[in-house]
Amino acid sequence: MAYLALYRTWRPRFFADVVGQEKTVAALLNAVKENKMSHAYLFFGPRGTGKTSVAKIVAKAVNCEHPSAGEPCNQCSSCLDINQGSFMDVIEIDAASNRGIDEIRALREQVRIAPAQGKVKVYIIDEAHMLTMEAFNALLKTLEEPPPSVIFILATTESQKIPATIWSRCQSYGFHRLTLEEIVVRLKEVAEAQKVLLEADAAVLISQRANGGLRDALSILDQILIYQTGEVISKQDVLDVLGVVDENFLNELFTSILIRDAEKTLYFLATALEQGKEGQQLVHDLSMYLRDLLLYNLIGNKAKFNIINDFENPVLQQLKKNHTSPRQILSAIKLLMNTGEKLRFSEGNKFLLEIAFLELLNFFHSDDHEEKKGDQAAAVTRAVRHNTADAAGEADAKLWTAILAKVKEQKIPTHALLSQGRLAGIKEDTAFIGFRKGYKFHKERMDEKVNKDILENVLKQLLNREIKARFFFLSDEQSNDYIINKAIEFFGEDIIEIKD
Ligand SMILES: Nc1ncnc2c1ncn2[C@@H]1O[C@H](COP(=O)(O)OP(=O)(O)OP(=O)(O)O)[C@@H](O)[C@H]1O
Ligand SMILES: [Mg+2]
Ligand SMILES: [Zn+2]
Repeated sequence: MAYLALYRTWRPRFFADVVGQEKTVAALLNAVKENKMSHAYLFFGPRGTGKTSVAKIVAKAVNCEHPSAGEPCNQCSSCLDINQGSFMDVIEIDAASNRGIDEIRALREQVRIAPAQGKVKVYIIDEAHMLTMEAFNALLKTLEEPPPSVIFILATTESQKIPATIWSRCQSYGFHRLTLEEIVVRLKEVAEAQKVLLEADAAVLISQRANGGLRDALSILDQILIYQTGEVISKQDVLDVLGVVDENFLNELFTSILIRDAEKTLYFLATALEQGKEGQQLVHDLSMYLRDLLLYNLIGNKAKFNIINDFENPVLQQLKKNHTSPRQILSAIKLLMNTGEKLRFSEGNKFLLEIAFLELLNFFHSDDHEEKKGDQAAAVTRAVRHNTADAAGEADAKLWTAILAKVKEQKIPTHALLSQGRLAGIKEDTAFIGFRKGYKFHKERMDEKVNKDILENVLKQLLNREIKARFFFLSDEQSNDYIINKAIEFFGEDIIEIKD
């Protein structure tokens, strides 16, 4: 018997088998039950999320000889024929093929002919966005005067390419990317049926790679099963098959970049290539890893990671300590994306990779921002450093702790604001306190008289003299909003969730 791909074997046959898409499934099931089907549907959403599968379930449900509570029986001859693709009244048209266009042309006459075999003719038009203008018009005419006993189901991954005139004549349902958990659950079920144990972190890794599409997830599992002879699938097995490098490897590689260790960085690169990783894949994985770091940098614990497993990852703490800015990470991602692009045209070019990685070493040099001309904050920081050498370092840290403690005694909200700042130093009669750009709100509140007075009183108590407080912004001149916009440009709105 020919081998049937897992994703085909596991095509859902009942509404109840469909993973996720609850609202859509409930609405359709209800319509079938109450005999209130519409003449035309538009299913839109990312690939491999169930559009064609649900369309076929609908086709069966309306033609089944023994339906039960809206579900098809999957046993009568109609159901069996539809599952096999040999039912005369369920017509699948692939709009992407030339034949598809001819079929739509012929469709206007054919739809008038009553169902031959079943109760309802169902036209499933896949990749509907590929229809030509001419085909859309032909379809539109039909939708304007829908013949009885005909249902059209249009499915598309590119809803923006469907004309408004079509939208307005269809009932539309959006299919969503499946969640990581939903995919993990189904993967485990499938693995179990194949009599293999899929370890938890292996399932998570596959799901991450599938990016919300169940077909892709099942295809990855399929590939692994082909290579795999044992009964257990570990994370390493997944990594081997996908040719990806894991979180630990990326941690080490990135750390060597952060500390500007050229030798180590090149060593990691060579190791990955020797182990058979594709250059492009490596660049892609590192970009995805940096994407995680960028999100963490922007929205902290609200970030949803693709590669990093949890907030315990030591590199996240390192980034904080180094005051790495989103802009630095973005520049690095940009460089990697350019490199990935170049690699497409020069397969396996190790030299390109080496240059790119060495260039990365410069991106995370944390003193860079102080060198910029015209940057007032940097000038202040420098002045403070030069003139109060002994007040710098440890002494400053101790003083800052004492200041925060005293402020807290006086007013907790003021402490909450101030604690996001850092004492850069005290020069003559002025204390300079820096805030990172994202803490504009904190800086502005601290500039208000009430809060400033509290701080200046504390300074006077601690240092026995009148000291003014001055607040300024640390590091980049770019605001975080700019960075967020850039990040959206790179990754698409749905990946980045910005919560206030
Ligand atoms: N929501 C889902 N529930 C259960 N299985 C699913 C689901 N989505 C996808 N699958 C699995 O993926 C396979 C392909 O799904 P389907 O053809 O329905 O996706 P699609 O949305 O039509 O994708 P495309 O846009 O690429 O045509 C199914 O046979 C099934 O194994
Ligand atoms: Mg499909
Ligand atoms: Zn049936």
